[in-house]
Amino acid sequence: MAAAESTGRTAALVPAAGRGERLGPGAPKALRPLGGVPMLVHAVRALAASRTVDLVVVAAPEDTAESVASMLSEQSFPAEVVVVTGGDTRQDSVARALLTLPDDVDVVLVHDAARPLVPEELVTAVVAAVRAGHQAVVPGLAVVDTIKQVDASDAVVATVDRSSLRAVQTPQGFTRSLLQRAHAGADLDEAPATDDAGLIERMGLPVHVIPGHEEAFKVTRPFDVVMAEAILARRRAAGAV
Ligand code: C5P
Repeated sequence: MAAAESTGRTAALVPAAGRGERLGPGAPKALRPLGGVPMLVHAVRALAASRTVDLVVVAAPEDTAESVASMLSEQSFPAEVVVVTGGDTRQDSVARALLTLPDDVDVVLVHDAARPLVPEELVTAVVAAVRAGHQAVVPGLAVVDTIKQVDASDAVVATVDRSSLRAVQTPQGFTRSLLQRAHAGADLDEAPATDDAGLIERMGLPVHVIPGHEEAFKVTRPFDVVMAEAILARRRAAGAV
């Protein structure tokens, strides 16, 4: 493992173009408030706060890209923030954001807008692992539930050995050249990857797992909103936000 030359800038791509249907009816998920602040703003703040991120590129839903750009421009972030139009799938949204990066970016994070409470320490740790020479890095947590594999009729086929499983999160970090090769070479006839590391695995290349963080969970269902509000309230009480 050779240490990457660390002369370039780091960009974070934020796919935020999902509808969030599992959360129930309403605005696109990234715009739904948590503690009165849109989820996307929390996510961009966390990325920018790590100070390892110089540029944030948000992929927003086509019909709200302009209002997202104006909403973000009213905020002050310690990083440059730009908005592009997302695509029909997460993979497509990331690919579109990737195409807009300036030449001087050499490390790229991809972070779901739906993980608004990611601690800045996790962002910093992912960047550090890429800069230390891992070309593809994902944060992951051990799985606590027993996991069963089922067939189409919900009959159990097998119990998977959970000691070898990790629930992976974002931000995921990559050298820019590898992430570009992965997206450029993605087979569009295959099901889209649900994370970017999945594309690297399809190339047969290694992906390095570092410890994830419970607060980097994905806000997907109504229960997750309750959890996120509780975490924010605790952070506020501790004066951390
Ligand atoms: O649907 P899922 O929970 O996997 O979405 C993960 C992230 O991908 C979310 O932040 C969502 O906004 C984003 N996404 C996107 N473009 C899509 C679908 C999802 O940017 N077409």
